[in-house]
Amino acid sequence: MSVLETKNISKQYPGTLALDHINVSFDSGRVHAFVGKNGSGKSTLLKVFSGAISPTSGEFFLDGKEMRFNSPKNAFEKGIATVYQDLSLVPGLNVAENILLGRMPMKHGMINWKEGQRIAKDILDELQLDIPVDILVKDLSAGNKQMVEIAKAMSFHPKVLQLDEPTSALAKHETQALFAMLRRLKEKDVIIIYVSHKLHELWEIADTCTVLRDGKLIGTENMDKLERKDVIRMMFGSVEIKKRPEDLKPGNKVVLQVNNLSRKDKFTDISFSLKEGEVLGIAGMLGSGRTELLRGIFGADRYDSGEIIMFGEKIKKATPQLMKKRGLAMIQENRTTEGLVMVHTIKQNICMASTDLISKGIFVKKSLEKEFAQHQIQDLQIKVSSPDDPITSLSGGNAQKVVVGNWLNTNPKIMFFDEPSKGIDVSAKQQIFQIIWDEARKGISSIMVSTELEELLEVCHRIIIMHEGRLVGEISEQDIGHLGIDDLYAMCM
Ligand SMILES: Nc1ncnc2c1ncn2[C@@H]1O[C@H](COP(=O)(O)OP(=O)(O)OP(=O)(O)O)[C@@H](O)[C@H]1O
Ligand SMILES: [Mg+2]
Repeated sequence: MSVLETKNISKQYPGTLALDHINVSFDSGRVHAFVGKNGSGKSTLLKVFSGAISPTSGEFFLDGKEMRFNSPKNAFEKGIATVYQDLSLVPGLNVAENILLGRMPMKHGMINWKEGQRIAKDILDELQLDIPVDILVKDLSAGNKQMVEIAKAMSFHPKVLQLDEPTSALAKHETQALFAMLRRLKEKDVIIIYVSHKLHELWEIADTCTVLRDGKLIGTENMDKLERKDVIRMMFGSVEIKKRPEDLKPGNKVVLQVNNLSRKDKFTDISFSLKEGEVLGIAGMLGSGRTELLRGIFGADRYDSGEIIMFGEKIKKATPQLMKKRGLAMIQENRTTEGLVMVHTIKQNICMASTDLISKGIFVKKSLEKEFAQHQIQDLQIKVSSPDDPITSLSGGNAQKVVVGNWLNTNPKIMFFDEPSKGIDVSAKQQIFQIIWDEARKGISSIMVSTELEELLEVCHRIIIMHEGRLVGEISEQDIGHLGIDDLYAMCM
């Protein structure tokens, strides 16, 4: 048996005490859920364990030995492997090269490709993963990318495996495959630390639950002693779970009409309409073409045929600039590559899409910029120490809120939300849903894509279902209240 233990670990960032004297211990052969709201310090503690950062004070021990790392490589060597929130694989290299990155076997001063592939295959076999070693990582599904990332971590035969939101990009069956693998690792006596905002997963996979709030340890409890409301109480103190207001009804006016829209290999013959103040959900499995459809309508990708009519006017050629001008906002799924500019400050990122509203000529009016940023920081309760800090100083979930705030600043008339709650905590989700409903009441329509189908049932007036690029069903406003989550999953398969 092995134990990972901390003694008074603290991490002070300028303006934020991210970890406040944490004393916690994790033993082997169990999955330890590690939860807390956005910005509570989860990733920070994982980064301390992984050697990515040093604590300001305090120590930690693996099997009684004090650990001090000067680099992540060092942590791997000492037996602590980490799978991060944002994956670290190199897309242009193949699976074997990624698993053995920087460690490919050599022969006569040259890389021994054959041997490398054999070693990588052994590692995948051991984890019962059926992924070809010579395929490029960029051609893998999100689920398989995640599995390769874990295989890479496991190739060091670690005593500790830390996973930071590993299922945020996974479909349901991929999540099940990951859980099966974690159960096998438990038997190998690995210490598994598991960070997730998908609370329902915890009862399925975790044995214990440790909760952080604002950098402080709230406590650890066995999962079987906890109910959902207990975990939420530990995370937030209290949070109100809201329901879609009964009286919130869409108007009669059609604001967006899509007719027979097709793009080769992505989506085929899609027709639907969106009414004023309506919240429309698009359900479907990963890869069913939902994101591609939204991108097509927004003009981020071309489409081959079909037409888009917005506010009664046919759109000749959709481009993001044009669609934005017409009042469409697109909150994208992948915040780090599409929604944010990493070298800019928080303030600049919140005002990116609304530059023309806060500028006079070519100059940004600083006072307006500050006001716009402050407004969203308050409304969305974004946890920042200063709006002038770099965007990279925000926790994952708070960065996601910046993406939403950026678009709300453009005063859109129609909003597209692609996986809006990815990586954000229960309370922030509620804030975003509330915003969708508040805006709907003002007549603003939304389309929301989510892999978390229960969310769609919670938030939307109506849901359409995509499967392999086609529309295969619709759940009307009348039916939505009677539909169970399992029914909806079945319809998407
Ligand atoms: N490099 C940094 N510079 C300044 N502050 C930082 C930095 N990294 C993190 N922080 C701050 O430390 C706090 C904890 O962040 P952390 O990333 O650990 O949160 P988290 O619990 O992982 O949240 P999430 O669920 O959103 O991923 C946050 O307030 C964050 O803004
Ligand atoms: Mg995090």
